[in-house]
Amino acid sequence: MKIFLDTAIVSEIKEAWELGIIDGVTTNPSLIMKSGRNLQDTLTEITNIVDDCVSGEVISLDTEGMIKEAYELMKISSKIVIKVPMTKNGLKAVRILSKENIRTNVTLVFSANQALLAAKAGATFVSPFLGRLDDIGHESLILIEDIKQIFDNYSYKTQIICASIRSPLHVMNCAKIGADIATVPFKTLMDMFNHPLTDNGIERFLKDYEKSTK
Ligand code: E4P
Repeated sequence: MKIFLDTAIVSEIKEAWELGIIDGVTTNPSLIMKSGRNLQDTLTEITNIVDDCVSGEVISLDTEGMIKEAYELMKISSKIVIKVPMTKNGLKAVRILSKENIRTNVTLVFSANQALLAAKAGATFVSPFLGRLDDIGHESLILIEDIKQIFDNYSYKTQIICASIRSPLHVMNCAKIGADIATVPFKTLMDMFNHPLTDNGIERFLKDYEKSTK
């Protein structure tokens, strides 16, 4: 499974990229706001760090506006993926952009039918949101299983990005289901490294090494 970093903070992206464990980056207007910088500058810097797949989100709600924003974002780098909301106008934009071989990521997906429609429109990626579904008492993993089954049934090439990830357990479960990608906040990615037995094991080995050299 690929791992994308779900952040617009450049220092986090640099650190994760140097660890060799991420394959791309996703941003959204809230993450850009948190980074304290503007979209263009941030995406430019991110595309200079990672090899591919940097999602930048459009904010227009009409198809024409989305397309115009997409063309502006594509001027930054061919690594950019255009993130559009799961709306009728969004899917019209996806259809147009996919015909021009511009990659799209349909975001704010909360049902399997929405994912099916996005795939039919030619989306490169769909982003179902786990955490926000869990927050309202829904079983988010069932959504990922359903989308995976539908895409497999009909051999859709659209890739599933598990988004709104809140814990290492989310990541593990998405990998077990066979999702293509999980986009993970930096803290969750760092938490994936941790196991107390690893720390205890290192401590014990070091103590024994010191004893053996006395
Ligand atoms: C990524 O594509 C999504 O925009 C992001 O994962 C949403 O996460 P949140 O629900 O924690 O805001």
